[in-house]
Amino acid sequence: MTHCVPPHTSANEPTDIMLFILFLVLTMDALIIVRHYTSRDAFVCSDYSPCVCEIYEPYGLVVHCGGAVDDKLPVTALDVWKVFNRTKVRHIYWLDLLSLATESESSDIIKIPADLLNGKSVDRIAINCTSIVGPLRLEIHPDAFRSSLHHIGHFEVAGCDLSRLGFEFLANSTRLISLSITRSINFRGFPPMAFLARLRSLRIYECLDFQHWNQIADRLPLLESLFLDGTQLGDRPVNKLVNSITSSPTGNETLQQLSLWENRLTRIPDGVSSFKKLSYVNFFGNAIRTIPKGSLAFSPDVRVAFLILSKNALTDIEPGAFQGDFSEALVYLDFNRLTRFDSAVYEDMLQQMSYVTSTAGLYVHNNPFVCDDCHLSWLIRDKRHLLKRVHNGRCSNGTLFENLNPQGYDHCLS
Ligand SMILES: *[C@@H]1O[C@H](CO)[C@@H](O)[C@H](O)[C@H]1NC(C)=O
Ligand SMILES: *[C@@H]1O[C@H](CO)[C@@H](O)[C@H](O)[C@H]1NC(C)=O
Ligand SMILES: *[C@@H]1O[C@H](CO)[C@@H](O)[C@H](O)[C@H]1NC(C)=O
Ligand SMILES: *[C@@H]1O[C@H](CO)[C@@H](O)[C@H](O)[C@H]1NC(C)=O
Ligand SMILES: *[C@@H]1O[C@H](CO)[C@@H](O)[C@H](O)[C@H]1NC(C)=O
Repeated sequence: MTHCVPPHTSANEPTDIMLFILFLVLTMDALIIVRHYTSRDAFVCSDYSPCVCEIYEPYGLVVHCGGAVDDKLPVTALDVWKVFNRTKVRHIYWLDLLSLATESESSDIIKIPADLLNGKSVDRIAINCTSIVGPLRLEIHPDAFRSSLHHIGHFEVAGCDLSRLGFEFLANSTRLISLSITRSINFRGFPPMAFLARLRSLRIYECLDFQHWNQIADRLPLLESLFLDGTQLGDRPVNKLVNSITSSPTGNETLQQLSLWENRLTRIPDGVSSFKKLSYVNFFGNAIRTIPKGSLAFSPDVRVAFLILSKNALTDIEPGAFQGDFSEALVYLDFNRLTRFDSAVYEDMLQQMSYVTSTAGLYVHNNPFVCDDCHLSWLIRDKRHLLKRVHNGRCSNGTLFENLNPQGYDHCLS
């Protein structure tokens, strides 16, 4: 049995950070894809009704069909076919099919017909099957996007029942590099298809079916970004997955971004330090308790961009846990249970961050640091210049690190 996780509703701080990071990642994605897009016609929205067209500079036209924005009439896949039969623009940037109506009231299947685009091409396609009765089944004709197979760079589905989706409609795509599946059910894995070997980015959000599928390393050998977020996998499946990637012929060399938030992890997966190009790691919202020495050792050849361990159960970080080039890194350890801020853990990282005029920083909001012994004297008294890279460090009694009196540590040894 599989279920969809309900959307998050809280608007607390880590969630905002996540949204911001998500935004950054999506923007980067858009940039990757637009590089493929060369023709520079002036962008003009003609009549796409009942769909809505907007211009999204500098990328092109975005056409939204369906959706519960206001009391609009329901839009079916056939209506979309008619729109593209009528309109003249050869290429649009983004086709967004949101909550399309089924062909009849009694049906729970959204059927995307052959040649939906009537000879037109698009860069990005998004299909959202969310309905008031839950995820609708999605069925896509193998020739649905025939005219766009040499253009599609990104495909995403959200809120769909995937039991009728076999991905044949992407089989002959030649430019697909990014695939995203959100809050969908009955995912049965990807069949062996050549296009998968080209994928650089796979994003799975809040789908629980990944418990049953562990062929990422076999099917997607060139992945640079792997986001399995809210998939609730647990330590063992995640370890198996990460190890299968590190031991594949290309895995160590290709993966750059690894995101595993909300996966019930209690420890850092083995093998994270094997990736030679990894610069983005996100373990937000797990139950990780300790970070052993060397478990987050990044290659010296990459600049770490993000290391996110917000909202875990961290009590202990061993000396040498973090290794690598942190000179431009954003490191988040907020919302944990850390009581110590030892020089053997942080000094090297903060020293690297302090050299550049970048936004590098260490975020430690909401940890009950102990300040009334001598272990903070290195930072508060001896290396105060490093303090500016530590954001929101507070003692368990609420005093900010910046407001601690250095003379309070005069009696401590250096
Ligand atoms: C599709 O376009 C053709 C040519 O413009 C037209 O003859 C035909 O009626 C259109 N079909 C539909 C269903 O709108
Ligand atoms: C899918 O549609 C639902 C309902 O409109 C919306 O709440 C959700 O954010 C959409 N998901 C995505 C990924 O666009
Ligand atoms: C993909 O292309 C091959 C060769 O042209 C063709 O035989 C096959 O039917 C195509 N598959 C799909 C799903 O369009
Ligand atoms: C990947 O890295 C790990 C750890 O360094 C190593 O054991 C493994 O052999 C490497 N795999 C390949 C294919 O290079
Ligand atoms: C909190 O503890 C620190 C270190 O012992 C002390 O310097 C500071 O005055 C305390 N702050 C409050 C508000 O008690």
